[in-house]
Amino acid sequence: MDTDLRVRRILQAAVHSPSVLNTQPWRVHTSGRTVTLHADPARQLLHSDPSGREMLISCGAFLFTTRTAARRESMVADVSVLPDPDDKLLVATIELRPGRDPNAYERELALAIERRRTTRAPFEDQPLFSDVLHAVEAAAHEEGAELRVIQHSEPARDEVVRLVRRAEALAAEDPVAREEELAWTATAPDRDDGIPQDLLGPRPADERVPVRRFLAGAGSVPFEQHSTMAVLTTPDDTARDWIAAGQALENVLLVATTYFVRASFATTVLENPTTRHDLRRALTLDAAPQMVMRLGYGKMPGHTPRRPVTPSND
Ligand SMILES: Cc1cc2nc3c(=O)[nH]c(=O)nc-3n(C[C@H](O)[C@H](O)[C@H](O)COP(=O)(O)O)c2cc1C
Repeated sequence: MDTDLRVRRILQAAVHSPSVLNTQPWRVHTSGRTVTLHADPARQLLHSDPSGREMLISCGAFLFTTRTAARRESMVADVSVLPDPDDKLLVATIELRPGRDPNAYERELALAIERRRTTRAPFEDQPLFSDVLHAVEAAAHEEGAELRVIQHSEPARDEVVRLVRRAEALAAEDPVAREEELAWTATAPDRDDGIPQDLLGPRPADERVPVRRFLAGAGSVPFEQHSTMAVLTTPDDTARDWIAAGQALENVLLVATTYFVRASFATTVLENPTTRHDLRRALTLDAAPQMVMRLGYGKMPGHTPRRPVTPSND
């Protein structure tokens, strides 16, 4: 077994992980079969994410993708999360060791890594089928989080979408928040991070569609009325919970991808402490909301760019 090649292939897959505004806030170091994953504060959204919550969710997603890609290489990842109390940016150490060949499920999940993409275009007017819904709920639960599905008929849904719009309006009035979002969206074609204009998606004509309205977004097109909306929650709201939320998020998204289900997000509402608090109350959650998403059936968009894997080596 060429271990170096396998470790490289695993990390090449892991960079496909989702991250807030495609900031890719991770740094990787390898030493033989040991991978250390650090959060990169130079890529943190200091204004909208001062605590680093979304940065750590993104790193948690990277961690889950690494674990999943390891199985494709017949390796097992032994993970230690936040192993050093004196180094808060050290998200995890990952020991990769040879394991049995992947089973059909593991292989299918790993194949979804490169097929998963955030899809901000309109979906078909069809909520998730119940077997798919159970599968994505189980995926969140496996990683220590929960998916609180908001039924279309639920009165709280309108209130949650109202809070999403309120948070976006407040951010749009704040010059620093505007500047931060615009630095990472409608990015130039030679950038290997951020979200290019054509992937920001059209703006929904109907305000009640739970898709993010980016400042640089354009157009006004009809969207579906019946996508499935869900909030990912964790029991507490610590750094460890944020990393768990990221791992759960990527498990949900990869499982969804195996069913040809796509997702988009509307997380400005969780960046503003007041609207986050109000969302929690509107849904009577006894857990911390970490992601707000919309799930449905739709076309596959293009890929957002990625920085190449350049792990520092010993
Ligand atoms: C913590 C977090 C928050 C995000 N918030 C949003 C959001 O509010 N709206 C949105 O359209 N995408 C959101 N995304 C998705 C990212 O923009 C997306 O993952 C990134 O641009 C990479 O593109 P990809 O998912 O297609 O690979 C979020 C992702 C993460 C991990």
